[in-house]
Amino acid sequence: KKVVLAYSGGLDTSVIVRWLQDTYECEVVTFTADIGQGEEVEPARTKAKALGVKEIYIEDLREEFVRDYVFPMFRANTIYEGEYLLGTSIARPLISRRLIEIANETGADAISHGATGKGNDQVRFELGAYALKPGVKVIAPWREWDLNSREKLLTYCEERNIPVEKKKGKSPYSMDANLLHISYEGMNLEDPWAEAEEDMWRWSVSPEAAPDTPTYVEVTYEKGDIVAIDGQEMKPHVVLETLNKLAGDNGIGRLDIVENRYVGMKSRGCYETPGGTVMLRAHRAIESITLDREVAHLKDSIMPRYAEVIYNGYWWSPEREALQALIDQTQTYVNGTVRLKLYKGNVDVVGRKSDDSLFDEKIATFEEDQGAYDQKDAEGFIKLNALRLRIAAGKGRKL
Ligand code: ARG
Ligand code: SIN
Repeated sequence: KKVVLAYSGGLDTSVIVRWLQDTYECEVVTFTADIGQGEEVEPARTKAKALGVKEIYIEDLREEFVRDYVFPMFRANTIYEGEYLLGTSIARPLISRRLIEIANETGADAISHGATGKGNDQVRFELGAYALKPGVKVIAPWREWDLNSREKLLTYCEERNIPVEKKKGKSPYSMDANLLHISYEGMNLEDPWAEAEEDMWRWSVSPEAAPDTPTYVEVTYEKGDIVAIDGQEMKPHVVLETLNKLAGDNGIGRLDIVENRYVGMKSRGCYETPGGTVMLRAHRAIESITLDREVAHLKDSIMPRYAEVIYNGYWWSPEREALQALIDQTQTYVNGTVRLKLYKGNVDVVGRKSDDSLFDEKIATFEEDQGAYDQKDAEGFIKLNALRLRIAAGKGRKL
């Protein structure tokens, strides 16, 4: 009996290690990943050892996370319910996949995680796990135990001599962070009318406090992915790190929303997605000159569906693969450079260019016609498009 646990090294998952050992009398394997949450992952080793864990996995997955999950998602200009950039949602399939791979390597028959029974994350972890290992057993302690308050967790630790570090400046919010975003839920945010406190935000200055001079930045695309910033080539995760810094310093990427969770409830969340906010604008800008109109509109029509698939936890599913194939196929000519101006919470596109541009100055110009477009053709175009409207109007149909 062996279980692989998604282990952060924090209080909750440390209690889970011990609880699994006691309740299921099983061996626990811990898995801790650096996906850019901005916290050291190495301390998880000492903590896991102290809890008697023998197999400890600690991995830097930042590059893989951005290259294989974040970038593919941004090719579709993905946003959930018109606003949420899916920062937490897109990290879960990677964790699920590693949990299952580690289970296979270590001969474990179960996986476990620290998500509650009320949220989306449990769904995402577990759908992914079942899709990749159909017979896997899932243990979700939050759905089983009665340690449903911080007090009870602390008492549990005291009774069993589990060391608890008292971190100063620890945020009271339920948070989740990775290279794409940091999220805040709970506490005073549970009142959707209550404005978030300024000192809650960690990755961005407020737009009011941002510099009075704008920052210009140029991003270069190849097949829909950013490959360089200001002419300098960078790996995917370095691209996102760089944009996070530039955008956060200019007060960009804060979001305060009420969203619909897959399990049925509404929940209020605050998010900081500085680099992602810039990437979304920039990607639309490069597509605006390189994509065929119908392809662009087709992509846009499936985007909300694709966002829902990811939000609801179906990354590892045939429908996501099918949608991804279509999206990726559209990106062949999405190459070129976008120039952006970052200023006090705003991202403005100020220029775009591409060797694969479909923008034709000779056709678009308001100056004298060059022969490529004959204005007389427009008359018949409009008349034929109006035909059904004229027929209906002729029959006396009222609009
Ligand atoms: N509501 C967001 C989502 O469902 C963020 C979830 C944050 N998760 C967390 N464990 N704090 O994607
Ligand atoms: C949780 O419930 O563990 C976090 C929130 C969510 O998953 O939606």
